[in-house]
Amino acid sequence: MSVIDLIKERLDIAEVIGRTVQLQRAGRNLRGLCPFHSEKTPSFYVFPDSQRWQCFGCNRGGDIFTFVMETQGLDFRTALEELGRQAGVEVRPLTPTQIQAGAEAERLLALSEAAASYFHALLTSAPQAARAREYLQRRGFKAATLETFQLGYSLRSWDALRTHLLGQGFTVEDMVKAGLLVEKEEGGTYDRFRDRLIIPIRDRRGRVIAFGGRVLNPEDEPKYMNSPQSPVFDKSHVLFGLDLASQAIREADAAIIVEGYMDVMIPYQEGYRNVVAPMGTALTEAHLKQLHRLTRHFIMALDPDAAGIHATLRGLETARQSLEREWEPVFDARGLIGYEGRLNADIRVVTLPDGMDPDELLLRAPEQWKNLLAQAQPVVRFYFSQLLEQENKDEPKGKARIVDAMLPLLRDISNTIEREAYAQEIALHLGLDARMLLDRLHVRERVEAVRREQGSGDRERPQDQESHALRILLAYPELLERVDIELVKLELEPLCDEDFGAEGRMLWLALLELMANPALEWEDLLPPDLAARVKEWAQTPLPEKTPEEWERNLLRTVLWIRERNLRQRNEEMRGLLLEAKAMGDSKGAEYAATMTRLADTLMRIQRALWPKPLRR
Ligand code: UTP
Ligand code: MN
Repeated sequence: MSVIDLIKERLDIAEVIGRTVQLQRAGRNLRGLCPFHSEKTPSFYVFPDSQRWQCFGCNRGGDIFTFVMETQGLDFRTALEELGRQAGVEVRPLTPTQIQAGAEAERLLALSEAAASYFHALLTSAPQAARAREYLQRRGFKAATLETFQLGYSLRSWDALRTHLLGQGFTVEDMVKAGLLVEKEEGGTYDRFRDRLIIPIRDRRGRVIAFGGRVLNPEDEPKYMNSPQSPVFDKSHVLFGLDLASQAIREADAAIIVEGYMDVMIPYQEGYRNVVAPMGTALTEAHLKQLHRLTRHFIMALDPDAAGIHATLRGLETARQSLEREWEPVFDARGLIGYEGRLNADIRVVTLPDGMDPDELLLRAPEQWKNLLAQAQPVVRFYFSQLLEQENKDEPKGKARIVDAMLPLLRDISNTIEREAYAQEIALHLGLDARMLLDRLHVRERVEAVRREQGSGDRERPQDQESHALRILLAYPELLERVDIELVKLELEPLCDEDFGAEGRMLWLALLELMANPALEWEDLLPPDLAARVKEWAQTPLPEKTPEEWERNLLRTVLWIRERNLRQRNEEMRGLLLEAKAMGDSKGAEYAATMTRLADTLMRIQRALWPKPLRR
């Protein structure tokens, strides 16, 4: 038994989770308010049988380890050690490669920390750093801010840092790895940062992992020299300032995203502490995921120049693609027709006055900065205004392109009224009939599109799906139990008679009989034509797949069957409901309640079929 299994066996998942979440019994399982998103009715479940948890609201789920990792912000290793300690299970030492990687990372971190102290000491007291100190003062930095960010200065020298760090016992090899030294082609090394203002870059836990170095002479190039990628520094993940901002982001329930170092540090000094910046790159999925754990509200305060706007648009696109969505049922006049993912985030854009960065604006006109933040434009309006600049709205083709570009953004809005209001606003602007735009917003084509994207091509006709499921069960009877467990975890009924049509049901019942009583023959249980069909199946082998793959395949097939059946029942109910209404029958309320229940189940099925489909 692996350490992981042993820990899972010894610890009670309900107890571990129960320390953070107040749980109540719900049948065999437990239920509580989800710690990962805010909600008023509990949709967070703990399944003691399978040792797993799942929130049906935000779709997060996992085991005891992922729970501890996500709630306490630990990496897997640390969570393993922590739970191992609680379970009294010794966590086996790391493999040699892991140890090596860990040891290397520790050395590089220690090295970076030492370099940061060295640069900082120079800035605070070296005579050569006088210009750097003046520069910072001119830019509005107060002494305390220099300390908070541990700003530094690197001497105008090719080897001062190397000499200093060698004296502290660090190796040249590690200095190269950390990016502090550059290797010359002809051999030998030199200090990467010379005569620059040094800004230490820290990870989420506040450990120095890299540096940014700003020139002090406006003529020098490049303006910022940054550490290259290293085993401890991944540009595409790091958000500058996050170590200091995360608390404030949580408290303000908003994250302000700016472009540069200065735009983080000055606002911090002036009391805006929920500000972060990517490392001179576009916003990535990794950035957004980190922020999304802290808040759902993003304000992008970016340069108004063309490049800045381009970057903003790209960032928005990344956000739309990578943030989690909430699935919500959509109805048309004929009843339930599908689900749409709404973006689980509120994104706004602040356009700064021409040529001003947040730091300058904040220092020169704090009131204006405050107003701008308060008036941040919802992403839909920002996008629309950008499109109006790019396209000619007086041309029919231009109009069409604008509408096409806007539809996905409109669909992301979770509030129906808001969504329709924007649609109307846009229609008005373009001189189009609002109803037409609302029709286009209409879900049917969207649902079909998601289907086409997500549904793997081998979706079959109804009877074929049933036969397919039965064939798999015939070949792998043990999968029945496993799929039932999966279904129950999804809060769905185990496989049952009702899942099948008339023929399928006979086969299904016969299969159950046979599993219970292997002495029987198909002929004893089925009419001759069906018995012959089963025998034929038994002789034609299924395509080559592992049992795990078949399990997945079976589960999906069952879900598809259920989805189809539910839609059909929903249609029936809708008919009954209309009839009841027309006749003034009091049964109407009952039908409506049934429809709600069906919609609920359908939603769970769809989530299982297409979990977070737009993330990839
Ligand atoms: P900016 O050019 O907008 O600089 O680049 P800034 O942050 O406003 O700096 P100041 O106010 O002129 O001092 C934004 C960010 O892009 C990255 C840095 O992270 C910078 O903060 N950048 C910029 C580089 O990495 N290298 C460069 O040469 C320029
Ligand atoms: Mn600037």
